[in-house]
Amino acid sequence: GGGECGRADHQRYDELCVAGKAGRPLLYQLTAKENPNWVFNPAYPPQAIWGYAGNMDTVATTPGPTFHARYGQSVIVRIRNELPANHTGFGSPEISTHLHNMHTPSESDGFAGDFYSATLKGPTLTRSGSFNDHFYPNLYAGLDEFSATSAIGDPREALGTLFYHDHAEGVTAPNVLKGLMGRYMIFDDLDSGSEESGLKLPSGAYDYPLSFSDKRFDANGRLFFDELNPEGVLGDKITVNGKIEPVLRVARRKYRFRLLNGGPTRFYEFYLQHKNRTTSYGYTIIANDGNLLPAPLANQFRVRIGPAERADIVINFANFPLGTELFLVNQLVQTETRQPRDAQAPGTQLLKFIVDREAPDTSLVPALLRPLRDLPSAAELAALPVRRFVFSRTNGNWAVNGQFFNSLLPRVSVPKGNAEIWELVNPDNGWQHPIHIHFEEGRILSKTVNGVNVAIPPNERGRKDVYILGPAQTIRVFLRFRDFYGKYMMHCHNLTHEDHAMMLRWDIV
Ligand code: C2O
Ligand code: CU
Repeated sequence: GGGECGRADHQRYDELCVAGKAGRPLLYQLTAKENPNWVFNPAYPPQAIWGYAGNMDTVATTPGPTFHARYGQSVIVRIRNELPANHTGFGSPEISTHLHNMHTPSESDGFAGDFYSATLKGPTLTRSGSFNDHFYPNLYAGLDEFSATSAIGDPREALGTLFYHDHAEGVTAPNVLKGLMGRYMIFDDLDSGSEESGLKLPSGAYDYPLSFSDKRFDANGRLFFDELNPEGVLGDKITVNGKIEPVLRVARRKYRFRLLNGGPTRFYEFYLQHKNRTTSYGYTIIANDGNLLPAPLANQFRVRIGPAERADIVINFANFPLGTELFLVNQLVQTETRQPRDAQAPGTQLLKFIVDREAPDTSLVPALLRPLRDLPSAAELAALPVRRFVFSRTNGNWAVNGQFFNSLLPRVSVPKGNAEIWELVNPDNGWQHPIHIHFEEGRILSKTVNGVNVAIPPNERGRKDVYILGPAQTIRVFLRFRDFYGKYMMHCHNLTHEDHAMMLRWDIV
């Protein structure tokens, strides 16, 4: 059904609603709750996970329901919290749900301090409650889109492959590991979600989200979480859409797979291989964190993504005879939380594809996807303010600029409308931090290691919301803060580092 302007709890919601830009919102409901009988794999006992149930669904799943949204069509999601107050095992039943890469008003962003349950509330909320309403504009209504005077940046931000996950302060890692995450995609006239219009990319049943998350299981096959380790979590099993070693039967045609590294800590490098493990096949990379790339990267044999990064790839199963069995394989070796080592065969077979039927294919992968606007000129860039953020350990804990997260204290105040350069600095030689900036997508201007320029890989040249800050690396990111006021965050998306306070509140003022 449709909502009404002026009726939501959100102050800034009216900005968009009154202007009629974001359309009459559609209303949805998502309920965070326990599923007591989740089966990761038939070899494991049914067990409790936390997930989301959509609208009138009674059973929660992990990942939760996938949203298919339209650019320019806003949505209000009422997120109910029915997690058990007296539960067993890890996780904390207060939630704050963040839609990762949505360009949203602050009060809908799932701020860490905004966690709630029926009886408890976080430090930045005014009341507890069994639900919270989140307004998702699915639109960029800032200066740039409607002002002829500003030429910087592509207004069509936050399009493409998003995901939602719990973000409650200090307990994000256990809550997400327990299952609180799901997928959200946005389509527009170009990436239309149909093979009859726009770019005609593989769509519908052939546009398939794959979420990877490694988990630790005890000797009895039960999920557990090491609460005391501040470094990160490396699971012994990797789940794909909540299942261990699942099988996907596919038709002989093109598919778009939306790969998401759901964390908490591990990096992946994906290969498509024959079951004989010796032959690898190429695929086409079409999108990164939030957007289609300007042009497809054809015939790629690997794509590496860190926690919270996404990569959309197109695999053409028409290249294989019926009955072929293929695997999506992770060959990145990671035995310590600090950083991955090199990719090495044989790797781990994560997902088996069986090509088992014919199907018509009207989809295309055109030579040009979504154009990327030029960055500002060197002279314009040189005139911009630069903010420097150092990600390192302070007194044994993870910090930004030597300070730990405090939900009540903004460390940075950005004037609305400002264009800025954010310089992300990793002084450590071993650690690798996937840094996520909420609200605004950015463009990487440069990467240096110990002061020496390094190349920006082609799939990182588009718009991004996660920046992999390698050892001794400095990354400069161009950002512009166009609309809304209020509190947002930046943090390491190694979920354990995030919980151990490598996070910073910044405000738009
Ligand atoms: Cu994907 Cu601040 O989070
Ligand atoms: Cu980190």
